Amino acid sequence: MKAAVVYEPGNADALKYVDVPTPKVKPGWSLVKIKGFGITHSEIFTRQGKSPSVKFPRILGIECVGVIAETTDQNRLPVGQKVVSMNGEMGRDFDGSYAEYALLPNEQIEPIESSLSWAELAAVPETYNTAYRGMLQLKLNNARTLLVRGGTSGVGIAALKLAKALNPKLLVYGTSRHENSEQEILDLGYDGFIHDQENHLDTTQDFDRIFDLVGAATTIDSLNHLEVEGIVSVTGDMGGIWALNDFDPVTAIPNDRYMTSFASYKLYSKYLNQLFKLIEEKHIDVRPVKTFPLSQIADAHRYLESQKKPGKVVVLPEE
Ligand SMILES: NC(=O)c1ccc[n+]([C@@H]2O[C@H](COP(=O)([O-])OP(=O)(O)OC[C@H]3O[C@@H](n4cnc5c(N)ncnc54)[C@H](OP(=O)(O)O)[C@@H]3O)[C@@H](O)[C@H]2O)c1
Repeated sequence: MKAAVVYEPGNADALKYVDVPTPKVKPGWSLVKIKGFGITHSEIFTRQGKSPSVKFPRILGIECVGVIAETTDQNRLPVGQKVVSMNGEMGRDFDGSYAEYALLPNEQIEPIESSLSWAELAAVPETYNTAYRGMLQLKLNNARTLLVRGGTSGVGIAALKLAKALNPKLLVYGTSRHENSEQEILDLGYDGFIHDQENHLDTTQDFDRIFDLVGAATTIDSLNHLEVEGIVSVTGDMGGIWALNDFDPVTAIPNDRYMTSFASYKLYSKYLNQLFKLIEEKHIDVRPVKTFPLSQIADAHRYLESQKKPGKVVVLPEE
């Protein structure tokens, strides 16, 4: 089969499009024919050698959509079944989705029913799942306003679309670090723009809910922009700061405000199927901003690294 293998960490050219043996099924694992996958920043970090636990050579790719090609679970995963897989140690401890086929643990393969195109399906897994779980945590039914901190990010845009589908009356605001991004934010479908100025919201407005994708760099500021009974979900780390030093919850969390977080370590089938149903029922536009064939995976990484246009970048092996 064709695959993109990283033999040595490096820049995008470290992704070598080569022939490798198609993996053979083993007990508890099934072979998935890859129909598409989104690429993620975590894969760029891994390619650069910044994931210490990942040993090379490795086929990267932490998510995919496809069909079962060979199975060890005839009941749940029959040959031809449409499936999604993501997370676990895929593309890290064992070879991932940057290939025509991937051998994956059965418990990490989820059968799905969907009439979306492969390009649309491939744009969903990690990005929309993270946003969806965040929106569920934020209990949007009782909310009037939501701020997406990191409004132009892929997860942020997914959150906007899901939030509007879950509560059409919700007013959703989006942030950007760039003062002149108001039009871009409004064009994405947000109801308002807030400038995130060096990790401080340039507003006196408070919000019922905040989905904070910038992370530890802005957590305290987000807490201080919550209405009473407000909730912040800190679910990203774009600010490049990973921990809150000297965090005193008693003084840092204002009275009657709540903080939560989501990390997508494993695949939860219940939520994934709910998510696909919601996308279809509400006709949520999940089309990727750009697609590449597998042979141009290095260009796909370069595009993501220099991305000017917000949205999901997807690779379609058969394109
Ligand atoms: N918890 C989980 O399980 C999980 C899963 C997936 C992703 N995530 C997290 O979700 C976040 C978004 O991921 P993504 O792939 O959607 O990102 P993305 O699409 O690459 O986001 C790019 C945008 O992020 C904004 N940004 C970049 N650096 C920033 C900074 N220092 N402060 C504020 N904004 C910054 C920029 O917007 P402006 O230039 O307009 O400011 C940029 O347009 C990441 O932190 C990622 O780690 C978490």
